[in-house]
Amino acid sequence: MCGIIACVGDSDDAVDELLVGLENLEYRGYDSAGLAVKNGGDPAVFKRKGEISRLKDVLADETPSGGLGIGHTRWSTHGPPTDANAHPHTGCGDRVAVVHNGIIENHGALREELRARGHVFDSDTDTEVIPHLVEEHLAEGVSPETAFRRTVRRLSGSYAVAMLVEESDAVYATRSGSPLVVGVDDGEYFLASDVPAFLDFTDDVIYLDDGDVVVARPDGHVITDLDGNAVERTVQTVDWDPEDAGKGGYDHYMLKEIHEQPTALRQTLRGRVDAQTGEVALEDFPPGTFEDVSRVQFVACGTSYHAGIVGARLLGARDVPARAFLASEYATSPPPVDGETLVVGVTQSGETADTLAALRRARAAGARTVAVTNVVGSTAARECDDALFIRAGPEIGVAATKTFSSQVVSLTLLGERLVRDVTGSRSDDVEELFAALSDLPGQVQQVLDYTKARRVAKRYRDSDAYFFIGRDTGFPVALEGALKFKEITYEHAEGFAAGELKHGPLALVTPETPVFAVFNGRDHEKTLGNVKEVEARGAPVVAVATDDDEAAFEHAETVLTVPETHPDVAGVLANVQLQLLSYHAADLLGRSIDKPRNLAKSVTVE
Ligand code: M6R
Repeated sequence: MCGIIACVGDSDDAVDELLVGLENLEYRGYDSAGLAVKNGGDPAVFKRKGEISRLKDVLADETPSGGLGIGHTRWSTHGPPTDANAHPHTGCGDRVAVVHNGIIENHGALREELRARGHVFDSDTDTEVIPHLVEEHLAEGVSPETAFRRTVRRLSGSYAVAMLVEESDAVYATRSGSPLVVGVDDGEYFLASDVPAFLDFTDDVIYLDDGDVVVARPDGHVITDLDGNAVERTVQTVDWDPEDAGKGGYDHYMLKEIHEQPTALRQTLRGRVDAQTGEVALEDFPPGTFEDVSRVQFVACGTSYHAGIVGARLLGARDVPARAFLASEYATSPPPVDGETLVVGVTQSGETADTLAALRRARAAGARTVAVTNVVGSTAARECDDALFIRAGPEIGVAATKTFSSQVVSLTLLGERLVRDVTGSRSDDVEELFAALSDLPGQVQQVLDYTKARRVAKRYRDSDAYFFIGRDTGFPVALEGALKFKEITYEHAEGFAAGELKHGPLALVTPETPVFAVFNGRDHEKTLGNVKEVEARGAPVVAVATDDDEAAFEHAETVLTVPETHPDVAGVLANVQLQLLSYHAADLLGRSIDKPRNLAKSVTVE
């Protein structure tokens, strides 16, 4: 977790640029923020517990300047959010300053060793061993670069690290298992955990590989491996507009991203389907790509896992054996895997540690892997055999919204490729399915234009708990509806398979617990039966159903309507209503919608 940023230039405005970068990275963690800036001598360090505004207050009094700096926004892993645990960290003196994202697994042993040699530690963090080690190597008389390399060799775990040293005009950085990208501008460099950090300044990006060491000075940069051998990394231009990374007039990123779904879905679909002929054209997956596959496993976490369940159901219904696994469980007790197993990692960020661990395990066991991700150049995209990009654009709100919709659509397309390659024939209903996909962006727009989610949120705002039920592809949507609701409202919310209610959860249902029922067009009668069970216990029912669904209107207290579509993608429309419901419920409660407590956008620790 955490976000890191570094600026290398010869003007004096590194602090301003670091602050912009930190604000753009705040979605990665917001327990504390800090920066170090160099103007000749020692790096000057400023850091504070809490959000970046607190750091800004400190900087307003101090007004440091310099062209070289590193910054950090923290999501705590070792030690509570305190000023002392905020980054940058220094050694015993102020010669070295370091920011780090990831976990140094052997920090305990290193700390003991360093303590025995007289080092004194100021924080509880795993990171602090790094500047102390560098300091020791510098004392041996080696160059800062050598001291950095020698230190990195001692680390095990996952890390992206950036460092400033008193006697040098360079930023030293490396990555292993945690993201780090380089932004290249005229006479200036940026290093950051993610591209949006520096999009205000440049859209030219170098994606680093694990083991790369970057030494960036105002007049140039060098990238080498850990042994010092030069490595070639190309500069790529990203087409993300800095506007895209801003709120664009909405009160919250989440609301903006919910409203971006029609555009995001058009991007996801562009050039990939022909609704007339039923053809699917995925860049790196021509016909026959998956001929050797006999079963598919999806691994993912949170919202992406819910998309994975949809993907597995689509395949299962079309005679391709498929299952979705929570990545954290898959990594500890994996199911059987062989050379005919395709393991699909569904991950918006491409950096989720649990998902990466599951994918690595699958690869080691001989499976072929595909990353379905939003981030080109992410670890998942680079480590898997292939990648399918969902093209949703940057998502800043911690709550995943547009990326769920784009994941479901991407998995539907990938699913059809798989069905054809594995079974030798197209899905029976492919024309209807693809026509539904083509209509989906417009239908999402309709939901956005006519929703009454805010009224519904108001009506049930004083409830004790909130339950969500659904069947088939409506089941993952019920799970997703509940996840979103609890994540941003902090209210108790649970999602259940509609048929499971009577096996336990019904005991929780009272007149104070509204039940949101997702009707997706399949097994309508059975879902209706479950709604009646709820109704009989006096619970208010909110149906998510089409506006001609008379039974839903008869039995529900309220209906959130969605346009008619193919049952396999109906969940996307229902989910948009539930996203809006959660958003408005959280807004009415005054919650921190884009940065819910205890959570971070990208979970890069297991
Ligand atoms: O980046 P990923 O898709 O791998 O992230 C997985 C989960 O952490 C993520 O979907 C999380 O559940 C969402 N923030 C929930 O809204």
